[in-house]
Amino acid sequence: MSNIQTILVKSDDSEVVQAASQALSEVEGFRVIFCENDQCALRRLDEIDVNLILCDLSSSVSEKENALIRSRLAHASCARIIAFERDAMDEGLAMFERTASFMYLIKPFDAEQVRIVVKRALEHTELARRHRILSRELKLSLDDDIFERDPGGSVSGGISQFERMVYASPRMAELVAEAKIAARTNMPVLIQGATGTGKELLARAIHFNSPRMNSPMHSQNCGGLADDALHSELFGHVRGGFPGAIADRLGLFRAADGGTVFLDEVSEISPQFQVALLRFLQEGEVKPLGSDKVLHSDVRIISASNKSLEKLVEQGRFRRDLYYRLRGFLLEIPPLTDRPEDIPVLTQFFVEKYAGVVGRRVLGVTSDVLKQLENYPFPGNVRELETEVQRMVAVAEQGGYIALRHLSEKIRQAPAADKGGEAWFPQGATLKDKVENLEKTILARELSEHHWNQSRVAEKLGLSRVGLANKIKRYGLRRDAGHV
Ligand SMILES: Nc1ncnc2c1ncn2[C@@H]1O[C@H](COP(=O)(O)OP(=O)(O)OP(=O)(O)O)[C@@H](O)[C@H]1O
Ligand SMILES: [Mg+2]
Repeated sequence: MSNIQTILVKSDDSEVVQAASQALSEVEGFRVIFCENDQCALRRLDEIDVNLILCDLSSSVSEKENALIRSRLAHASCARIIAFERDAMDEGLAMFERTASFMYLIKPFDAEQVRIVVKRALEHTELARRHRILSRELKLSLDDDIFERDPGGSVSGGISQFERMVYASPRMAELVAEAKIAARTNMPVLIQGATGTGKELLARAIHFNSPRMNSPMHSQNCGGLADDALHSELFGHVRGGFPGAIADRLGLFRAADGGTVFLDEVSEISPQFQVALLRFLQEGEVKPLGSDKVLHSDVRIISASNKSLEKLVEQGRFRRDLYYRLRGFLLEIPPLTDRPEDIPVLTQFFVEKYAGVVGRRVLGVTSDVLKQLENYPFPGNVRELETEVQRMVAVAEQGGYIALRHLSEKIRQAPAADKGGEAWFPQGATLKDKVENLEKTILARELSEHHWNQSRVAEKLGLSRVGLANKIKRYGLRRDAGHV
């Protein structure tokens, strides 16, 4: 995130333009864009991230073309200030209310007024942002059922009823048991797993089952951020600490004091930042950017990575000492294909979740659908299953089951895997038919496994070459025929 604040000024009044350009200089960390009319302002709003918009009253344009009204709807986090003449007080105040603007300015005004109001407005937006984060955490912390093992038929009630771990496999049961132990301690936790396996969900489960559950949990994605930006997000910065720092920023380590900080994609941090993080873990010291003051914070770190940190350590790309610090507990979430028992319960859970969201009655999925889901390898893991179910719920008929035709092409066409048991039970009416079918299946599979090297297969199955050739002929087996 950049610390430069972008201000859009929409006015054709040269005095307004002058006051704004005097007040909002680049040295103080502002980038100002001037537009003479609403049309230009709307275009710019769509093109760039604007933090604040200062607008003259636009009496002559329609509501749809009014930049201030539109910015309220389409750019909710952008602060708004409205300017008008004393003569237009009634209309101005109505628009001020209508657009939930932060303040109004009565013309003529001077640069100092603009500077003060803009600063206050930006501080206000930052506070609102923090407040949003905190109240979200608070709401979630009321739900301590996040570790629940079985959706158990009913998924109604509770505030964040869908924020919980669903599983049926022994491997997940084991992992969750370990996570519960970790939750009760104060030790750092490192969660590893492929994309979409539920690392963030598990992190939240740990926090909300820990003694810190009534303090905030804040998350930070460490991927793709420059060191300064990451530093400022985690450790904060002081006003004037560097060009562009127009207000103090409370870093997440301080904001989460007493709680938990979740560092996502922790493998991505630079060697320099690894040092800073290590120091924090060792001393609990927080030095905001641009400040000499050393503050303290007591947070528990849960980090996540979809790469093996141990491998990165071996390759010299991640500090060993930091790795040991982060890995108080190491929890590895297996990919979904390694725990097919979870697919039915997750599917049912997501059906109820999304049917509830869109207000539809969907009874569940047919057994054919379930079989296909169990066959599909799910490279995107639980997230991919969730999106698939969400889509199917949207297209399924009201009051019916989700059937094969609702599945997406790639899943419908996933080849049936060899799952043993029923799938292996040969077809056929009589015993002779069944045995022949079984023989045919075995031959087809062995041949394909050995790339139709008939001598090898004959030897392996204890047949003569001629015997094998006869059977191939009898069953009409052909290379690339896809018998298996
Ligand atoms: N066991 C589970 N029970 C219920 N929902 C789950 C489970 N595992 C994952 N999910 C859901 O799957 C989605 C992806 O999970 P999450 O964001 O935690 O994955 P992630 O491992 O952090 O992925 P990424 O590496 O891509 O960031 C979320 O919507 C989450 O709620
Ligand atoms: Mg994640």
